This record gives sequence, C-alpha cells and structure tokens, in this order.
Amino acid sequence: MRTPLIAGNWKMNLHRPEAVALAEAIRDGLKKDAQAEVAVCPPSVYLDGVAQAVRGSAVAVGAQNMYHEANGAFTGELSASMLKDVGCKYVILGHSERRHILGETNQDVNRKLLAALAAGLSPIVCVGETLAQREAGQTADVVWEQFFGSLAGVSAEQATQVVLAYEPVWAIGTGKTATPEQAEAVHADLRKILEVRYNSQTAQAVRIQYGGSVKPDNAAELLSQPNIDGALVGGASLKAEQFLAIVAAA
Ligand code: PGA
Repeated sequence: MRTPLIAGNWKMNLHRPEAVALAEAIRDGLKKDAQAEVAVCPPSVYLDGVAQAVRGSAVAVGAQNMYHEANGAFTGELSASMLKDVGCKYVILGHSERRHILGETNQDVNRKLLAALAAGLSPIVCVGETLAQREAGQTADVVWEQFFGSLAGVSAEQATQVVLAYEPVWAIGTGKTATPEQAEAVHADLRKILEVRYNSQTAQAVRIQYGGSVKPDNAAELLSQPNIDGALVGGASLKAEQFLAIVAAA
C-alpha cells in the first residue's frame, strides 16, 4: 500500500515571515488522521527556518534543487549533505522549469539523483511533455526518455526511495489540468516502465505524484486514480487552507 505524498512546491515565492507562517499554518492545520504524507518545499534560503517551524510535526521539508558535487568551488550551489543538514527529507529534481528555463538535461538530473540518494535524501523526479509534444503524440516517448535518462544507474532498492512526479508542462501554472483519465494513462505507463526496468515489487512500491494545476476542486478525482499516489502542488500550495484541502482529498 503506497502512502500518498502531497508536496507543496513554493517555487520562488514568499519572504521569510510568510514562509514560516505558511509552514506553521500547515503544521497546525494538519489533521492527526491525515492519510497522506505531507512535505513543503520552500526557497532554499528559508529551508532552515521552515524546518525549525515544522520540527517534530508530521510535515516534512524538501528542497527545490541541489548540485551533484559534495563540496568545493561551485559558487551559488548547494550539496545534498547541506540539504540534509538543514533537515530536508526530499529534493525536487528535474522540474520542468529547471529543464526548460535553466537548461537542465536528463544527465544533470541523473547526477543529482545519484548524489541525493547517496546522501539519504528522497528525490522527487519530475517528468512530463510539452503541449507540442503531446499534440505530436510523443508523450509516452518523452516520459520514457526522461525516466531512463534521469534514473540511469539506480538500483531497484534505491528506486524505492525515489518519488516520480508526472507533470505535463502544459498543465503547470496554466489552470489547465490533465483530465484524471489523461493523467492515469501516463501514470499507468510509468508503473509499467518501472516493472520492465526493475520488477513488479519495485513498481508497486514507487510513488508517482501528479502535478499541474492541482486545486482543492480537482484533487479528489485525480487522487482517486489507482496509479496516482499524491500531488506536487505549485500555486495552491501557497495558501494553507487550499493545500490542506488537497491533503484532505487524499
Ligand atoms: P502548479 O505547479 O500547481 O502551479 O501548476 C505545479 C508544479 O510546478 O509543481
């Protein structure tokens, strides 16, 4: 049985007081009997403050990015062990904004993924097609290539620490959500890929989140699909009541 993971990707939003207040509101509003695991991913400069705010609660903390090297002359970058140090459990890798705006490749994602796993972080690895790729019928190929490129060299045992996030690029921040059927079809494909690459036990263990304009009013239908194991939430994660409503929908 996979525990759904609802993670809030705050992206480059909020300042310190709002970030800490949002974390506290989620911490305090989270129901004791919540059926989902919950994580918040603030901008890196607020990781420490947010981690302190949720310490001892059921809310986990994740980073939005990291660098694959352990230390050294890499101005502006953060290592996996630094993220562990400030209390991170998760790190989002290969988000489409990093792939498309910052030019991250599957190889970059793969290096980061291996470093994250070695440091004991759970990577949330994002895959997803653009609108042009969907319209050209390339969704399955794109997801396949991103999966194999990003997870190269990852063992079956390590794979169970990885969370996949299917995020169709055309649905991110646009208000356009994939229909539950569209999302489920790709999630089922990803589950199949996991089985082919690893084995059925691993395929059944790995959580696959959906992301792209998840809101309180569409969350329940998406999350009720058999292969959708949670959500990676952008815009709606910046308001505690909306984020908590999505958690409740899980
Ligand atoms: P959105 O972002 O919910 O604002 O569409 C999702 C994401 O980028 O993870």
